[in-house]
Amino acid sequence: MRIPASKTQPALERSRLRLADVAIADLFRTDTDRLSYTRLDAAGLTLDFSKQRIDAQGLQALFALAEEYELQDAFERLTLGEAVNVTEQRPALHTLLRGTQQQHLPDLSQGVAKTLAAMQSLVKQVHDGQRCGFTGLPFTDVVNIGIGGSDLGPRMVCRALNTSSPALRAHFVANVDPQDLDEILAALNPATTLFIVCSKSFTTEETLTNALRARQWLLSAGAAQTDIQQHVVAVTTNLDAAAEFGIDPTECYPMWDWVGGRYSLWSAIGLVIALHRGWEDFQALLDGGQAMDGHTLSMPPEQNLPMMLALLEYWNCNCLGTDTHAVLPYSQRLSALPDFLQQLTMESNGKRVKLTTGAVCDYPTAPVLWGSAGTIGQHSYYQLLHQGNRPFSADIILPLTNADVDLDAHRKLAANALAQSRALMIGRSAAEAAALAASRGQDEALAPHFEMPGNHPHSLLLFDAVTPYRLGALIAAYEHKTFFLSRLLDVNAFDQWGVELGKVIGKQILATLESGADLDSLDPSTAAAAVAWRNANGGH
Ligand code: F6P
Repeated sequence: MRIPASKTQPALERSRLRLADVAIADLFRTDTDRLSYTRLDAAGLTLDFSKQRIDAQGLQALFALAEEYELQDAFERLTLGEAVNVTEQRPALHTLLRGTQQQHLPDLSQGVAKTLAAMQSLVKQVHDGQRCGFTGLPFTDVVNIGIGGSDLGPRMVCRALNTSSPALRAHFVANVDPQDLDEILAALNPATTLFIVCSKSFTTEETLTNALRARQWLLSAGAAQTDIQQHVVAVTTNLDAAAEFGIDPTECYPMWDWVGGRYSLWSAIGLVIALHRGWEDFQALLDGGQAMDGHTLSMPPEQNLPMMLALLEYWNCNCLGTDTHAVLPYSQRLSALPDFLQQLTMESNGKRVKLTTGAVCDYPTAPVLWGSAGTIGQHSYYQLLHQGNRPFSADIILPLTNADVDLDAHRKLAANALAQSRALMIGRSAAEAAALAASRGQDEALAPHFEMPGNHPHSLLLFDAVTPYRLGALIAAYEHKTFFLSRLLDVNAFDQWGVELGKVIGKQILATLESGADLDSLDPSTAAAAVAWRNANGGH
């Protein structure tokens, strides 16, 4: 067991030893009441964690841990604006963006309300055709230019809520590889395309490069310099840099340094969502997030869904020894959820020193998160899940309905989700494998190849449908899980100095690729690759 020292450690250790060799399937046999205390409901989401390798006694130890770490209290202080991001001396008030605790933060709330009103007004003008492109035609497409938190959240939400008749078609460009922008623009009409340049800092190289190229595309298509402000709006905390870049302050939608990039889709960073789906749906997304905030603030550990997600991850990773966490949405709409959650969880909790002391953590922090839409993964990496020897945990996410699709096909999707959940638990025993070998007329020595240990801890997340409200609740649940886990692991969930290092070195190497100078300051491998790049591009 690799956990930070805690009063609850002995109880957790006893549970770990008791459950070390227990089959999850047996936990159902020995406790027929199991399902009643391994299900939680919140804001229309149901978490069924009965297929986790934990029993009632183990859960009590986890609840004691939640009390010891005062998770409830820490969450409340987060939502009230405590400067939880100690290295940047900032609060992390994404919950305020959806109205939570607004009565306690009147000044900041005013700014939020003002920005929402400005966003709503823009959305109305664009949808009503009052605001048009440079030839007088209404906008048909919106391109969000941003990266990381200025891309992944809105991209995932627009993918999830996509309809065949959106108010505006939404597109996303993130990569500085020109291919990304060029492929999107190739199918668009400059006269009817609106751009949103999303960058909290307005210094991000990828975003600024793409924004410049998009502006050039508009100019090359006949837009005048003065038309650009009709076609390009910005979302940023850095209004000066946006103005310097040439975006009129009236076309800038503010963000605040008290919102982390990966928690920002609820702010004006979500403008593309409102333009794509309409204001009502954006509001419903906020409402779903707020409902999950309310649940999380008020529920004790044993009924608190996001806290349970965090406690289970801690149990799996730090007590049972899993090292990755798979998120497996059985919904094409949620196919971008794992990408979004990668930034949310790994940029937040992929840390190595303790929040409280700065000492190096001698236990694992955030597990690697990965996954993709079922059933596609089944025909790819699920082989490793069933027969590989790396321990993992998983969330299988299943919206119970999807009115837009053929019911028979949806039934097959659901059957696959439930089949995989069951297979992950029961596996295939040695006796069953031997019987299978025999039925195939094969030597019994081959039976181990057909055997699957199963017993993989995982949860089911069920809800009625991928609606804006449910999606808001789902995202907020994962946000709060991430926060709770950061408390249990004693790390700062709200900075990202590891990413900043790459940015600094990137600037240095860009100068070398431009001039060929300073090769000596690089290590031999990087210098050789830089020379290869320069040679391949005509020496400049
Ligand atoms: O990847 C690092 C990061 O700072 C993220 O935290 C952020 O979401 C992303 O870059 C984009 O930053 P910005 O919105 O400032 O362009």
